[in-house]
Amino acid sequence: MPGDGIGRNVLEETIRILDAAGFAAEYIEADIGWEFWRQEGNPLPERTIKLLEHHKIGLFGAITSKPKEEAAEELDDSLKNKGLIYSSPIVGLRQHFNLDVCIRPCHTYPGNPLNFIRRGSGDVIDEPAVDVVIFRQNTEGLYGGVEWTDPPDKVYEALLSHPRFVKNFSGVPQNELSISTRIFSRAATMRILRAAFEYARKYKYRSVTVCEKPNVIRETSGLMVRLAKEIQKNEYPNIELWNTNIDAQMMWLTKNPENYGVIVAGNMFGDIVSDGFAGLIGGLGFACSANIGKDVAVFEPTHGSAPKYADYKTSIVNPIAMVESACMMLDHINENKLSSKIRIAIATIVNEGKVRTYDMKKLPGSEDVIQKGAASTRQMADAIIEAF
Ligand code: NAI
Ligand code: MG
Repeated sequence: MPGDGIGRNVLEETIRILDAAGFAAEYIEADIGWEFWRQEGNPLPERTIKLLEHHKIGLFGAITSKPKEEAAEELDDSLKNKGLIYSSPIVGLRQHFNLDVCIRPCHTYPGNPLNFIRRGSGDVIDEPAVDVVIFRQNTEGLYGGVEWTDPPDKVYEALLSHPRFVKNFSGVPQNELSISTRIFSRAATMRILRAAFEYARKYKYRSVTVCEKPNVIRETSGLMVRLAKEIQKNEYPNIELWNTNIDAQMMWLTKNPENYGVIVAGNMFGDIVSDGFAGLIGGLGFACSANIGKDVAVFEPTHGSAPKYADYKTSIVNPIAMVESACMMLDHINENKLSSKIRIAIATIVNEGKVRTYDMKKLPGSEDVIQKGAASTRQMADAIIEAF
């Protein structure tokens, strides 16, 4: 599913790398994104869902999203004013296939000029090696979509049954209330926690950190912390369970990021803490992810379609985030030898420092970065292939 903009560039190069590494696969291209919204009024066509149902493993580039009104204006004339409402196809995929476990690894490549550095004692500059894997619940919580402005009477009456609501909000007119719910189910919370602990066991991490806010958000964060304690005690006694609050975690991640291993959080806090850690290891050009459900799994870089670079004659963006996402796919289907072959090649190229995309050169993105010595998307992919 190449999708839109630079999603197409990074996926094309990634497939060349997978082929060159010796991954014997057939690829089936599936339609997703803006073109299909405009032409068909659906950015996630039913045929794409059918293909994923059948093949079960997806590589996804990126899509372009626009606000509802703008999206409606760009529809083909024959589809205008038919009440079609745009919604993000990647969110649609996560919901349709219940891709509830989101994994976002953030690890340092030595020699990456974008690595986080910090002032140590004296005048020493430290470059801590980060090796953190964030497990984010991907379908519930604040992003679950159960929300209202001017809530219906039944909802309003239910809220009035809560003493805190009466105390703090009963003076607010009903139509001036905006409410977004944060719902955690026991089953989905257990699934994300077990996935995190299982990963820690498999890849020998010392700790699992629950990153929530249970002292304030007592019911949902509280549930996650309670269940984590149960799982740790009964199933993973050899892995340490740590608890951090999301706000403090964001402060600590620049202080001692090397201390953390596996981190697990609800949907929004997982989103926040994974972007925070991604910033320490090179940002969007390096941030990969997996969305894993019971039957289907989709692997994608966390960046978007970067439309301003999409029409460059020579693509300048860094393909590593997409390549790393493909490595996660290889791990998922137990092709670990191939994934380590690719990761070692990336590590070699990054450490040598001869081939660097514009982000690694810290240049503002523009067409002339190639003249300024930055590698193109293709040159970076070629370098990785040559390093096999
Ligand atoms: P973006 O991630 O596309 O780009 C933000 C900036 O990050 C770019 O201008 C570029 O400087 C840099 N960047 C992104 N990917 C890079 C790469 N591989 N190498 C080097 N630099 C890179 O986010 P933005 O601009 O907020 O959104 C653009 C479009 O993408 C929007 O339509 C948005 O809705 C969509 N989007 C889609 C996502 C997805 O498909 N999962 C995720 C995020 C945004
Ligand atoms: Mg995010």
